[in-house]
Amino acid sequence: MGVHQVKLTINGKTVVEGVESRTLLSDFIRDGCGLTGTHVGCEHGVCGSCTVIVDGAAVRSCLMFAVQADGLEIETVEGLSQNGELGPLQKNFKECHGLQCGFCTPGILMSATDYLSKHPEPTTRELKEMLSGHLCRCTGYDGILKAIQKTVEENKETIS
Ligand code: FES
Ligand code: FES
Repeated sequence: MGVHQVKLTINGKTVVEGVESRTLLSDFIRDGCGLTGTHVGCEHGVCGSCTVIVDGAAVRSCLMFAVQADGLEIETVEGLSQNGELGPLQKNFKECHGLQCGFCTPGILMSATDYLSKHPEPTTRELKEMLSGHLCRCTGYDGILKAIQKTVEENKETIS
């Protein structure tokens, strides 16, 4: 089993580490980098809780090996806060009761961040489709949808 050196960027910080060939990106983020905000549920690409943004695309980090991320830029939920304050989407999840146990939350936040960067004015149907890639056992999704829609409205006000 080989150990490979990888060099990648996580939340703007360069990380250089030796990783085994079989190490999943999700395990590397949590155990190698100590960024435990990325959650691991199913470990086979179904629940969406491990979602991070890799080179500008939302990716399930349990479906990638850490060596595949060599040279890439990764954003995790820890990167959403600004100067220790929750980011706008995070604040709205809190205000709109978009989370209960919070297990699914980091993955949904990362998918929604990626989605809104590419679709700034999504319809409700489009947001529901995006959320269909995430399992939440607690909220019934209403609060999550409201939180994202509130963020969309706030973003529009900022632009206008
Ligand atoms: S832990 Fe990766 S999709 Fe469930
Ligand atoms: S808030 Fe508990 S699984 Fe979504």
